[in-house]
Amino acid sequence: MDINIIQNLKNQAISSILEAKSDKELEELRIAYLGRKGKITQLLKEIPSLSSSERREIGQIANDAKKAIEQALINSKKAQTAKKIDVSKEWLDVSAPGKKPQIGNTHLVTEAIQEITTIFEKIGFTRVAYPEVEWDWYAFEGLNMPENHPARDVWETFFIAKLKSKKYGEAVLTPHTSSGQVREIEKRKPPIRMLNIAKCYRRQSDVSHSPMFYQFEGLHVEKGINLTHLKGTIDYFAKTFFGPNRKIRLRPYHFRFTEPSMEIDVSCDVCKGKGCRLCKQGWLELAGSGMVHPAVLKNGDIDPNEYSGYAFGFGVERALMMKSGLKLDDLRLLYTNDLRFLKQF
Ligand code: DAH
Repeated sequence: MDINIIQNLKNQAISSILEAKSDKELEELRIAYLGRKGKITQLLKEIPSLSSSERREIGQIANDAKKAIEQALINSKKAQTAKKIDVSKEWLDVSAPGKKPQIGNTHLVTEAIQEITTIFEKIGFTRVAYPEVEWDWYAFEGLNMPENHPARDVWETFFIAKLKSKKYGEAVLTPHTSSGQVREIEKRKPPIRMLNIAKCYRRQSDVSHSPMFYQFEGLHVEKGINLTHLKGTIDYFAKTFFGPNRKIRLRPYHFRFTEPSMEIDVSCDVCKGKGCRLCKQGWLELAGSGMVHPAVLKNGDIDPNEYSGYAFGFGVERALMMKSGLKLDDLRLLYTNDLRFLKQF
């Protein structure tokens, strides 16, 4: 048997396969060369009758030719399938790798709010939500802070131009969550245990102040409530939120809507209360608080001779920074939405 005949057959088969334009043509070629009566099959059948010296060499070449033709058929079939997808008409490339969605995480402040909520819910406080654009009455007057009272200056409020109510005065962006106290006592009868966590706004913007920030406000009004209840509640909060070793102290202060009024300090964790650069003789200022002023209770038609209550107001960002030891060069970073900053947490 002539080796050239085999090589020619192989070349012929492969070039026909490459020119084939359909699956049908490819199948015809397969039958013509490799089918039962195919040209290569016939050749292979003749091999056993060859002399033993020819058998090995020709058998090898014929088998290689068969394998080469089979591979050419497989390759062409794949190419035919790919051609069937007309890329110009396809609007969806199903073979393209998908775009991975960015996986985010909750914002630091959101996490702090969630934690604070859980801590107070465990002792019966209910979260409430009141308007961010608030009337002067709820933000100030109802809290015993009459117009022109100098105490109001510290709140540095944003006023909403041209929005005024005869009954409630000017409209403001609520400067503190204490406005929720007036809303709450107007709406509900004691016992009241509310937790108002909300955005607050003040005309302030520097490294330690942002014009928008969060506060959380607690109000508890019931029969027989006194200062020890306030102290116990704040102590429970401080130990749960900041850690069991932290202590609190109440320092006399003045607010118009509480009497007596106090500022709450928490012991400094850096120096363990000894006094260091970060704190004032071992203490960090945390919040305002006090026993609800009788005038405020009266504004909600609650008889101060029958009921009493305490209230407190904390800055969320401040509490967060004191808890985590997070030192920010600029507190406003929390709100600039720079992912390079936020992704660190
Ligand atoms: N509203 C006060 C502020 O923003 C904080 C505050 C002080 C809240 C005393 C209270 C309180 O509930 O009793 O500075």
